[in-house]
Amino acid sequence: MKLEDIQSITILGSGAMGHGIAQVCIEAGFDVIMRDIKQEFIDNGVAKIKDSFAFLVGKGKMTQEAMDAAMGRLKTTTDIKEALSGAKLVIEAVPEIMDLKKSVFKEVSDLVADDVIVATNTSTMSISEIATVVKNPARFVGMHFFNPVNRMKLVEVIYGDKTSDETVDILCEVSKKYNKVPIKVMKDRPGFIVNRISAPNQAFISAMLDSGEVVPDEVDTTMKSVGQKMGPFELIDFVGVDVFSHTLDYYSKTLSKEFEPGKVLKAKLASNDLGLKTGKGVYEWKDGKAIIDSSKPSSTIGPMDFAAIQINEAVRVFKEGIAQSTKDIDDAVKHGMGAFFGPFELGAGLEPQQLTDTLNKLAAKYNLSILKPEPEIVDGSFKTLGK
Ligand SMILES: NC(=O)c1ccc[n+]([C@@H]2O[C@H](COP(=O)([O-])OP(=O)(O)OC[C@H]3O[C@@H](n4cnc5c(N)ncnc54)[C@H](O)[C@@H]3O)[C@@H](O)[C@H]2O)c1
Repeated sequence: MKLEDIQSITILGSGAMGHGIAQVCIEAGFDVIMRDIKQEFIDNGVAKIKDSFAFLVGKGKMTQEAMDAAMGRLKTTTDIKEALSGAKLVIEAVPEIMDLKKSVFKEVSDLVADDVIVATNTSTMSISEIATVVKNPARFVGMHFFNPVNRMKLVEVIYGDKTSDETVDILCEVSKKYNKVPIKVMKDRPGFIVNRISAPNQAFISAMLDSGEVVPDEVDTTMKSVGQKMGPFELIDFVGVDVFSHTLDYYSKTLSKEFEPGKVLKAKLASNDLGLKTGKGVYEWKDGKAIIDSSKPSSTIGPMDFAAIQINEAVRVFKEGIAQSTKDIDDAVKHGMGAFFGPFELGAGLEPQQLTDTLNKLAAKYNLSILKPEPEIVDGSFKTLGK
């Protein structure tokens, strides 16, 4: 199959991700059929696409004609057979439940020809495991978009253990056509590239809460002073204590027990203090804003701590063969997290001794062996990995 063969894309799910994927596809000139199980969910997704285009038209960044043409390329249905007729590429964005994904893909696989590419937007599930229900696993692939899809440039294109090179290559071309940056994920490992690189920092944040010695307001003030839009603790509340804890739970089952959410997070979950959505989490929230005392920065925790942890995990991601190059890791972090620099770019200007000391200090203080420096950090060879 070639890029030109893909004129029409079927998207399953019209929620947060599904409608966003539909939007970038129709904007790039693809015909799209978006399917959901209820008309009201579809209407909601279509309204969000319209609003988003109307905003661009209002700002002069899109013409009304271009908006009308894009909307004209969008069809919707609740009927799965209609959704799949004529499809060459199917992208799934239904809820993150393994049994649901498997039943959706079993049905899709029975209804489409063997050469149709079938992709999942899962953020955490094994591509190879989902692929066990499809007839042609060579054509099955992970396609991990980032939220919000219309703004985040990265798409991780993930190999399952039977995915063909041709399938991954075509999806990279499709992604470029709608102006995204595709990065190949060579192994189907938890967190893929970007989320995996953030994982030890999430464990670190949980451990800081448990230590009782760290004042979240001070750490957030410090991190915002170096350009972050939100500090790490404010971010927990923003995404939700439940979502943050579930992610840690997942890593504790798949990567290391040390990722298990700490006692403070567990207590907040138990008392339903979930952050922004319940009005209280790490912080109290009022009118959509966290009440943070920004009067003083932290005297113990700073950007170097978070950077060292991220660079160390990036080294592991490279050594495990998950990414093809350190440049791919840098690009994934920049385009998936909106960071100015990737971990290897950041590390290039830092002293190995400083990184090593920082990591050893944090690993000992928070009793987390996952923070211990990799040998390539200690001897400085991380700067030339893969070169
Ligand atoms: N939200 C994020 O930030 C984010 C980021 C990256 C990846 N993801 C992944 O994307 C997927 C979708 O997440 P979301 O946030 O868009 O969820 P969502 O709950 O907003 O939307 C899911 C939609 O799928 C629909 N649906 C359920 N069963 C269906 C079926 N059989 N066929 C078609 N549609 C069906 C639901 O009605 C709902 O509208 C998940 O796997 C999630 O892990 C989410």
